[in-house]
Amino acid sequence: MQKTILSFKERPAWLALNNHVNTIRGQSLSKMFETDPDRAESFTIESGSLYFDFSKNLINQETLGFLVNLAEQSGLAEGINELFSGGLVNKTERRPALHVALRAPKSEQIFVDGTNVVPEVHQVLGQMTAFSNAIRSGDYKGHTGKAIRNIVNIGIGGSELGPVMVYEGLKHYSQNNLTIRFLSSIDGTAFVEATAELNPEETLFIVCSKTFTTLETMSNARAARDWLLSALKDRAAVVKHFVAVSTNTEAASDFGIDSSHVFRFWDWVGGRYSLCSAIGLSTMIAIGPENFNSMLEGFHAVDTHFRTAPLHRNIPVIMGLLTVWYSSFLGAQTSAILPYDSYLKRLPAYLQQLTMESNGKSTTVSGKTVDYKTGPIFWGEPGTDSQHSFFQLLHQGTQIVPCDFIGFAESLNPLGSHHDLLIANMIAQTKALAFGKSKESVLTEGTAPWLAPHLTFEGNRPSSVILMESLTPHALGSLVALYEHSVFTQGWIWEIDSFDQWGVELGKSLATKIIKEIESPETSSFFHDSSTRALVRRYKIAREKNLTDSKRIRS
Ligand code: F6P
Repeated sequence: MQKTILSFKERPAWLALNNHVNTIRGQSLSKMFETDPDRAESFTIESGSLYFDFSKNLINQETLGFLVNLAEQSGLAEGINELFSGGLVNKTERRPALHVALRAPKSEQIFVDGTNVVPEVHQVLGQMTAFSNAIRSGDYKGHTGKAIRNIVNIGIGGSELGPVMVYEGLKHYSQNNLTIRFLSSIDGTAFVEATAELNPEETLFIVCSKTFTTLETMSNARAARDWLLSALKDRAAVVKHFVAVSTNTEAASDFGIDSSHVFRFWDWVGGRYSLCSAIGLSTMIAIGPENFNSMLEGFHAVDTHFRTAPLHRNIPVIMGLLTVWYSSFLGAQTSAILPYDSYLKRLPAYLQQLTMESNGKSTTVSGKTVDYKTGPIFWGEPGTDSQHSFFQLLHQGTQIVPCDFIGFAESLNPLGSHHDLLIANMIAQTKALAFGKSKESVLTEGTAPWLAPHLTFEGNRPSSVILMESLTPHALGSLVALYEHSVFTQGWIWEIDSFDQWGVELGKSLATKIIKEIESPETSSFFHDSSTRALVRRYKIAREKNLTDSKRIRS
């Protein structure tokens, strides 16, 4: 018999948490650690090489119990099952979200419309492997017979943020006689910088677009084709210098890309969940198929953990529950991602799309407007740089900002005591946030009473630590999968569709109208508010003036 799922606020656990939140508001982390000597141990989960310490969060065992009840009462276990078995978890687009199939071993079977998709996934991985090896070895030649040495990934959103994050994250493993660049924005500057000093004869463009219609990507792809043809002067060159990654294989062929150079993926892979698909081709070329496969294994290890670990010992479930707790009960509006590894500099940007495009929503799957807070704003920067900028607010500001600290036991670039210092800083920050420094101890140190309030840290600021052995491809895959499944957990509990993104459409369609006005010599015929009308007019006047001025300077 099917379990009846109550809506978010009707669940007994919601009620329990809503009452319980005041108890937690009246407690402090210092007290909680004092009264429970085993707290660190009982609020830590290890799985494979992952060590997840969530003991410095504003929760106690009762909170955790209620949160797990909330997950149970939302039918999360059934939701996970649906996710992994190809259920229509993307409800508004009526399709599965089967990114887990992209890293499933050959022996697994996952069905979509009666077809096991795992063999197709491995067939494309095989095609990517052969192509990557040919580029890496120099066997693949461009139109004039030269080996390819430069790769430009053209794509935006999920077709860029995942690849660039992994490329930067795993730079240590990259083949360094290749130049890999990423072109996303429709900004002439981005194009010029991405192609600067590249020899067209040695350059390959990978056009990544699930739809093959995205304005930025298609405009950049056409500009790249012009750039190439103006140097090589032969239309046939496109075949050797462009490959595509898309679900829209027809549009890719129409662009002039040879069908053997179209790497397909499927509409059951969401853009922001696509880095394990052929969207990761640039990554595979950079780090090699073996490392890429190891990354997929890292993802798969966390997929298995998410699917099989009990909810109260399940890392992504706990991460998701904590986000729900802080957003919907404690009123946190943002969440900080703080990787203590310079290679992970693009991780916060990647997670912004993953989390905010997934759960930045206010309508439930059944079409009701929510009356509770959903996805928070995610932001962050690597440590220790961020300590010298926004940490002031984390320690002494008026907002509660739950933080995720991410660190590795081993440095990929050991240098004196740098790594120990780096990790000492990370651990120190979690301690300072949690326990602060009382006014009494500030005064005991001999600080003048007038200055003491400024040197006081109230503490009680929540954070979690994800500690891993070393930044390997496997570790990075596991780390990303944790966040993917945390996002799923949140969305399922909030009853929102974490796999659609209708909120990006309005701006796109207005831009297509505004561009017509900008290009037209006529004044706007399209109805606008006074601000929009004035901005269009002002832009056109300023542009005309600039054009006239620069003509005058040139003549
Ligand atoms: O505008 C948002 C979005 O649809 C993202 O979800 C997606 O990752 C991105 O645009 C790029 O889309 P595509 O891969 O189809 O070019």
